[in-house]
Amino acid sequence: MTSQPRADKPAAADAEPVPLTRALRVWRGDKAGGALTDYAVPAHEGEVVLDVLHRLQATQANDLAIRWNCKAGKCGSCSMEINGRPRLACMARLSSLPDGPITVTPLRTFPVIRDLVTNVTFNYDWALQVRSFAPPDGLPPGQYRMAQADVDRSQEFRKCIECWLCQDVCHVIRDHDDAKPVYAGPRYFIRHAELDMHPLDAADRRDALRERHGLGLCNITKCCTEVCPAGIKITDNAIIPMKERSADQRYDPLGRVLRSWRRREGRPPAG
Ligand code: SF4
Ligand code: SF4
Ligand code: FES
Repeated sequence: MTSQPRADKPAAADAEPVPLTRALRVWRGDKAGGALTDYAVPAHEGEVVLDVLHRLQATQANDLAIRWNCKAGKCGSCSMEINGRPRLACMARLSSLPDGPITVTPLRTFPVIRDLVTNVTFNYDWALQVRSFAPPDGLPPGQYRMAQADVDRSQEFRKCIECWLCQDVCHVIRDHDDAKPVYAGPRYFIRHAELDMHPLDAADRRDALRERHGLGLCNITKCCTEVCPAGIKITDNAIIPMKERSADQRYDPLGRVLRSWRRREGRPPAG
């Protein structure tokens, strides 16, 4: 049977939807300085900020520097500040933003390389400071056994995509350059928690976390949790339990005697 055209169908319904125009204010510059530059970019329904940045790059600003990779919220590369809030550009729907110009700036906590790309070496330097998984002596690979509850507990922390949005928003790093050498930040507090809560990890990380990685400087504002695109409850499930574990160890009289004995004997602290 041949389908008949509908007589009542308006001709305009077949036409391509006309794109809207969104005003963008994009920070352009490098480590020597820069400024917000205004653009007007066509945008379609359902698009995200990364789509219009790509269109801007293709049509008006070919040299715009942006870091991105998956366009699916999985690689953590497209972190930037959108209307002043740390977000993944590939997950920021235009429809979630108020009408009016969209301001796009690089992560403020890290040094700018160019335009929207920052140098996030700070984070990789801290990654090297976290002692790696230490299985018990004499337990060969293949013999590791864990209860499902223990797997589930650390699974939340393993969802981290290393986007550094939590590191960017944490005021201890963002507003205090002098804290950077002594404060690892929320991403590494969850890494410690992941390892510390692992039933087969034999290292004690609490001294290091408190004395070298700056856990005590965190004042539990929860800003890191609010911006985490992986939905990790950084403060409630990692930082607060690690503070409690660390305080238990610190004020445990037996632990204090043991630590002072280790110091007297010239032995390294546990963890
Ligand atoms: S809760 Fe702690 S780690 Fe998270 S943003 Fe606040 S001060 Fe930083
Ligand atoms: S904890 Fe969340 S916000 Fe922080 S780096 Fe990982 S995914 Fe990003
Ligand atoms: S491009 Fe991979 S998270 Fe946005």
